[in-house]
Order: sequence, then structure tokens, then C-alpha cells
Amino acid sequence: MLGSRARISGWGKSLPERVLTNAELEKMVETSDDWIHSRTGIRERRIAGPNETTFTLAVEAGRQALRAAGTAALDVDLIIVCTFSPEFGGMPSTASLVQHALGATRAGAFDLNAACSGFIYGLAMAQATINAGMNDTVLVIGAETMSRLLDWSDRSTCVLFGDGAGATLLQSGPESAGLLSCVLGSDGSGGELLYVPAGGSRHPASLQSVEGAQHFIRMNGKEVYKFAITAAPRAALEAVARAGLSMEDVDLFIPHQANTRIIHSAAASLGLTLERVFINVDRYGNTSAASIPIALCEAVESGRIGPGDTVLLSGFGGGLTWGAAVIQWG
Ligand SMILES: CC(C)(COP(=O)(O)OP(=O)(O)OC[C@H]1O[C@@H](n2cnc3c(N)ncnc32)[C@H](O)[C@@H]1OP(=O)(O)O)[C@@H](O)C(=O)NCCC(=O)NCCS
Repeated sequence: MLGSRARISGWGKSLPERVLTNAELEKMVETSDDWIHSRTGIRERRIAGPNETTFTLAVEAGRQALRAAGTAALDVDLIIVCTFSPEFGGMPSTASLVQHALGATRAGAFDLNAACSGFIYGLAMAQATINAGMNDTVLVIGAETMSRLLDWSDRSTCVLFGDGAGATLLQSGPESAGLLSCVLGSDGSGGELLYVPAGGSRHPASLQSVEGAQHFIRMNGKEVYKFAITAAPRAALEAVARAGLSMEDVDLFIPHQANTRIIHSAAASLGLTLERVFINVDRYGNTSAASIPIALCEAVESGRIGPGDTVLLSGFGGGLTWGAAVIQWG
């Protein structure tokens, strides 16, 4: 449908049952509930069990999104799984496995890696292919098992992240509602501020890389913090301007759920009071590419988003990457 607008017609989420509290982390590393909560706002996070993987979480979230939209898997044209903790190291893509499990036999499928900004990038790709008339129905899933990439003896990272998946179904529809704008950005000069040193072509897996715990996330927390509090609001402002709106028009701001201090700082920079901000990082920690679609799903299910509302999303993460999007809810 040429000239149509991509609108979100379905949403879903999947979270492991296992809850890991700050009190439990106190027994694993030298930390405290007070330190974690005062620095990040996190109280607990979900951790995948032995039979849960990025693929199983993604399939469940995707299935829910299709059900919510009342759309058959056969009608899906494209599946994008946004993740940096895929089911396999190289191939097949998690998206291809999801395509098969859902029975979406007409769909193309690929993984997209823009770290914690991945879901915004996925939305932008879905919007682009729908607006170009190439696809009608695109399933965008953010799914991560961060727990498999964490060094559980490194207190500076293991307390921050959690596992989960969120999905949205995008379909072409009338101009009156849908994705109004998307902004994407990257600065690769900060690549090593947040990264997994080994397992790629620079440092393939070896005995030394495993012994050196190089397959786990490494982070310069202070530098990432400084980047986050400028990049996320800047992208959000640009997305709102590109949509031809102003910040007063925004009914709900759904930021990447990394840390309440970063969220509060972004909201203050944007002039948004906390009543207009959705926060669930206290319950799930930072689920990377899954954080925004999980939050979006909870916001819809709890009635925080209604017809006609203007919703602002913004994310940031490894790469470095950032992105923001504005949606007119249908
Ligand atoms: C990680 C972060 C919470 C740390 O907060 P901070 O205010 O910079 O930390 P502080 O300077 O107050 O404290 C650092 C001290 O706490 C210690 N510390 C680190 N993790 C700790 C933990 N889990 N428990 C207790 N102490 C900890 C450090 O060793 C350091 O100790 P030192 O001063 O003796 O060397 C903060 O930098 C941050 O949020 N960064 C962004 C992270 C992020 O969002 N990443 C994902 C992006 S998608």
C-alpha cells in the first residue's frame, strides 16, 4: 500500500519466571540493595531458566503480538529480531528460527544488532519497508538473554541487566495514525565503552579468551552514563521536531529502561514531568533491545496509552548507538 503509514496493531512480551532480587545478589558479589537501588532504581530482574533462550522468549512475545492484532502468522511478510545475545554466535539468525516456530512461512527474517537501541532501529526498518510498499505486515521483536553474557563475579555489570522479550506487529494503515518519525544515530568511536571483547573476528574464541572472561560484557559505566544523558534526550527532541510536534504534545515518554537516574535526567532535559514517563526498570533491570517493547506492551495493557495518544520512545546503547521514535496511537 504505497503512501500508507506503519501502525502498531499488536504487542506482546515474555519474561522468564525466575526473579533475581538485589538481596540475592548481595550473596553473590560485594554489593547491597541500597547501592543498586540508589544508583539504578533496580530492585529485581528476570533470569532465563535452563530451557529459556533468546529464541524461546522471542517466539512467545511474537505469538502474543500476532494474537493481539488478530493476524495470522501466514500474513507476516518480514520478521526482525533485534538482539545482541542471539540464539547462535553466527548463524542461523534467531529471526529465522522464530519464523519457523511461528509458522510464518511467507516471511523473510533477519537479526538486527544495534545493542540496546536495537528496537528503535527495528521499528525504523519496518516503517521504511512498509512506507516503500515492499511489505504490509512486519513483526519487530526485541529479545535478549543478557544473563548469558554477564560475568557473575563482576559487580559493576551483573547487577544491571535482565532477560526478556517484547514484540510489536506493524501493519500498513491509513495516514491518521502510526509511526510519525524515527531518528537513528551512532558514534563508533565509543565502541569499547560497552562491548564484549571476544567471540568475533578480532578475537575468536580460544582457551585464553575463555580463561580471561572475554566473552562477557565489559563497560565503562561513568562514560556510558555521560553519553546516555545527552544522546537520549537529543534524539527524542529531534524525533518530536521531525514529527512536526512539540514536547507538550507528548502524552507518554517510554525511554530505554537502563537506569532511573538516566530516565529522570532525560525527562528533566525534555521538560517532562514523571507522570508522563513510563518506568519499569525497577522490576526487570536493563533488558537491552527488549526494554522498550516490554515497556510499550505494559503501558498499553495498563491503560497508560489510549487511542489518539502521542507516544515518544528513545533508546541508547552499545555501538555507541541511539534512536528515538514518535507514534500516534491508533
Ligand atoms: C554503573 C553506574 C550505576 C555506577 O554508578 P556511579 O555513580 O558511576 O558509581 P559511583 O561512582 O557512585 O561508584 C563507583 C564505585 O562503586 C563500586 N561499585 C560498582 N558496582 C558496584 C556494586 N554493584 N555494588 C557496590 N559497589 C559497586 C565501584 O567499584 C566504585 O568503587 P571505587 O570508587 O571504590 O572504585 C553508573 O555509572 C551508570 O548507570 N552507568 C550507565 C550504565 C548503563 O546504563 N549501561 C547500559 C547502557 S545501555
